[in-house]
Order: sequence, then structure tokens, then C-alpha cells
Amino acid sequence: MSTHAAVVSVAIRAPLDVIQIPTVKPGDGEVLVKVQWTASTPLDLHQNDGSLLVNHPQVLGSGIAGIVVELGLQVKNLKVGDQVFGFGWREQKEKAHQELATVPEYLLGKIPANSTPQEAVTLPNNFVTVFHAVTTDLELPLPWPRPSSAPEHANDPILIWGGSSSVGQYALQILRYYGYTNLLATASKTHHEALKAYGAREVFDYRDPEISSKLLEAAGGEIPFVLDCIGSKNGSIIPISKFAKKRAKVAVLLPVIIKDASETEAPEYGMSVEDSANWAEGVVSRGVRTHFYLKNGLFKDKLQSEIMPTLLAEGIVRPNKYRIIEGKTLKERAQGAIDALRRKEVSGERLVWRISE
Ligand SMILES: NC(=O)c1ccc[n+]([C@@H]2O[C@H](COP(=O)([O-])OP(=O)(O)OC[C@H]3O[C@@H](n4cnc5c(N)ncnc54)[C@H](OP(=O)(O)O)[C@@H]3O)[C@@H](O)[C@H]2O)c1
Repeated sequence: MSTHAAVVSVAIRAPLDVIQIPTVKPGDGEVLVKVQWTASTPLDLHQNDGSLLVNHPQVLGSGIAGIVVELGLQVKNLKVGDQVFGFGWREQKEKAHQELATVPEYLLGKIPANSTPQEAVTLPNNFVTVFHAVTTDLELPLPWPRPSSAPEHANDPILIWGGSSSVGQYALQILRYYGYTNLLATASKTHHEALKAYGAREVFDYRDPEISSKLLEAAGGEIPFVLDCIGSKNGSIIPISKFAKKRAKVAVLLPVIIKDASETEAPEYGMSVEDSANWAEGVVSRGVRTHFYLKNGLFKDKLQSEIMPTLLAEGIVRPNKYRIIEGKTLKERAQGAIDALRRKEVSGERLVWRISE
């Protein structure tokens, strides 16, 4: 049996480890990908420090950029040597922080010629999150191909709370592409101009004590759609509950962060958005669970294999800025990224690191 190296979370708040795990031969419709680059996301930290949705030892990571090295039977659109990127998260063989991942071809797209693998790997999980949250939780359709006419709510205010997060940056760009013109966002001041270039009409500092009234004024009194890309009980959910009015739809990326992980303290998470704030009567608040996005047949067939590479190739979405996490070994790079997340160093960027040459 051949094996390869994988990064695992071994216990709550323990240092990461690298172990050898079996390489799974690709089955029908699957390909074997030599993973070259990955990105660390807050979920890796939630899993390592908070044991969120984890049975240790757990291989981490979901964003893959690499090269196809073997095909299973009935693979239609990929060939050996293709440079691909995608979102693999359901089971060990698909996960990203390992040298060889066995992945169905519908979870992968070809990296377009205008992008490097380091840029491309900033897209997959965020991109999927935006399409799922906007269509399922905000109930705003994002059809493919995009229709030429404007969408029904084209001019209604849509707030992206946490516009400078990775998810938030793609949310703005994707909503603008679909014709939504009244996008508001929150972020630190240093990111305001960049987010306006991505489609935000106005951007507000989320630390401003007057933020509720400023947002409502900018929106003309009501914000019918809110995507909370942060999910912090005190940092986003309670502030949003102060201005969300009857019939507003508020989609919050789970988990609810009750307490952030830090170098000295364990994090606390919740799963109920409804119970995290005193919502006004008639506000529809929902927790986003991207892991269910494959229930949508269009998204299963085309989101990663066609929509994501097309929007990147045509320059409709620009990749996140990224910072390469250096280190002599796989373990050092993986640990460096998770430590940076824990120290809350990430601002308007994705942490990207090498898995293999
Ligand atoms: N449930 C799901 O399906 C799903 C899917 C994807 C992600 N998520 C979750 O969504 C969260 C965000 O993920 P991500 O990868 O996009 O994060 P990220 O890029 O690492 O987020 C970093 C950004 O968060 C911003 N931020 C921090 N606190 C804030 C606050 N109180 N208000 C507004 N902005 C704030 C910072 O903004 P400034 O730099 O401007 O200060 C920073 O740029 C994570 O908890 C992740 O696990 C959930």
C-alpha cells in the first residue's frame, strides 16, 4: 500500500503533526491530485483549537491547487498534467493538507492561464460559500449563465459585514457581477478603497460606535439583506441585530464565535444564530452551512468546474491578496499558518503555503 504525508490536528490545542496515510486510488469519476499549494482558513483553527466537527486525528484543509497525476474511470473533463483548483472537505481522501488527494472531478476546475496556483487557491471554499449563502440563506438567485437582465433586488441594499474577509471580498465581486448595485460593507479603514473597487457603494468601520445609524442612513432606513462573514456574537451578530428590521434576511457564517481562540485561551463556539442576539420580530436569521451546497444540482455540476474558473479567467473576480507562509518542512508551514490565524494577524489576505514541489 502506498502512503503519503498529511498534516493532522491530533488533539485540542495541540501542535499539528505530519503523519503518513494511505493513498487512495481514484475510483469512477475521481482523479488523484498532487497537491502543490493550499491555504489555511479559520476553520482549521476552529478544528484544532475548538474541535469543531472533528474526530482527532483529523487531516486539515479544504483549498487545493495542484496537478492531476492519475485518472479513475469515466473522468470526462480532466487529464493527467492539468493544473487544477478546488474545494475538498468531506472525507480524509479529499482533504487539502496532504500530498495526494483523491477528488471527484466535479470538485475541481482548471486553473486559468491568467492565474498562479497561489492566487487560485484563495478562491474555492470562499467562492462556494458565497454562492451557497446568497442563494440558500438570502434567497437571491445566482443563475448560470448570468441573465442579461438585472435581478429582482438589483437596487435593494445588501450589507456584507466583514467585507475584507476572504469570503466578503468574493461576495462583493460576485454580487456586483450579478447586477446588485447597492452593496454596503464593513471593514477596517485601510481596506475601504479596495472594497469600493470590488463593488461596495459605501464601506463603514465596524469599530465605529455609530455604525448602526450610519448604515441605516446609507441604506435609506432599512437593510433587507445582510451577509455576516464573521459570525462573532459580540463583533457582528449583536451589532447587526441592533438595526435588522422585520422581514430582513440575515445569513451568518457558522460557527457563532462566542470567544475567539487565543494563545492562552480555548475558543467557544455556538451553532444557533437565533439564540445569539435579541432579534426584532420578523427578522429571518440563519446560520450558513456551506457543506450542504452539493444539494444544488447546478452547483454540483458547474460551480467549481466551470463557474469558478470562468469568473477568474475573465477577471470578473480578482483573487485575494495572499501571504506565503514559509518553513523548511510541511509541519513548520502548516503550524506557522495556524499560529498566525490564532494571533489574529490576518487582515484582507489569505495565508497560502506549499504542500509539495
Ligand atoms: N459556515 C460556513 O459555511 C463557512 C464558510 C466559510 C467560512 N466560514 C467562517 O467564516 C468566518 C470568516 O472566514 P474567512 O476565511 O473569510 O475569514 P478571514 O479572511 O480570515 O477573516 C479575516 C478578516 O475578518 C475581519 N474581521 C474580524 N473581526 C471583524 C468584525 N467584528 N467585523 C467585521 N470584520 C471583522 C478582519 O477585517 P479587517 O482586516 O478589515 O479588520 C479580517 O480582514 C470564519 O469563522 C470561517 O470559519 C464559515
